[in-house]
Amino acid sequence: MLSSSAPSPLHVAIVMDGNGRWASKRFLPRLAGHKQGVDTLKRIVRACPSRSIGTLTVFAFSSENWSRPAEEVSGLMDLLATALAREVSQLKKEGVRLRFVGSRSGLSDKVKAGLAAAELDTVSNTGLELNICFNYGGRWDIVQAASGLAERGEPITEQTLGAALALSPSADPDLFIRTGGEYRISNFLLWQSAYSEFFFSPALWPDFTEQDLDAAIAEYSARERRFGKTSEQVR
Ligand code: IPE
Ligand code: IPE
Ligand code: MG
Repeated sequence: MLSSSAPSPLHVAIVMDGNGRWASKRFLPRLAGHKQGVDTLKRIVRACPSRSIGTLTVFAFSSENWSRPAEEVSGLMDLLATALAREVSQLKKEGVRLRFVGSRSGLSDKVKAGLAAAELDTVSNTGLELNICFNYGGRWDIVQAASGLAERGEPITEQTLGAALALSPSADPDLFIRTGGEYRISNFLLWQSAYSEFFFSPALWPDFTEQDLDAAIAEYSARERRFGKTSEQVR
């Protein structure tokens, strides 16, 4: 009996990778893959509550993604603004609390206003906590947190630094999924993934299904999280 098996993950983080390849395979522009990726996100968001997932944190645009062709970057910015304008009222009805995690610098006034409005609109919701990491990088986050503490003359400890990170007060992710067949973190949640369970899916993000999510959860539940202890101690 797997008495030591972990329960279902309460917090799932996903690197939504593979949109460009999904589009290229169909001879479509990369942006078509990003658009399809938004639809996948909508499906996965809706799949969370019935699976007892309380927090979903997704990587939508990294600090490094600014180095992509200007056309793709502006397409991604427009897609975010359009998706928010279209989806926030429904997400609000479904009880989703939206939060954007990342730097606001470099974003247009229009995008910044969209993010702020979406957060404000859903702030009193108590259902799924959806963190969208946009213009986010794990290194950026650790530096901004440490600089803030230093500026305020506060001590730097694991507790104070953790609390100053942009994802706070969300807990650390239990399950960290990366789609698209790559085996790397790509600067996502460097601090918070210290004890996350990793699951790498070959599925390109637009093809990722609820069944793929269930496969990741099943694998998570069969693992033993030891947090540095021995197997005997955690059983
Ligand atoms: C992930 O898909 C979305 C973003 C990084 C914005 P990609 O655009 O990285 O897709 P691939 O990896 O090129 O297929
Ligand atoms: C990570 O994917 C960032 C997002 C999914 C937003 P990338 O496609 O940017 O990662 P690399 O470049 O393959 O490491
Ligand atoms: Mg990629």
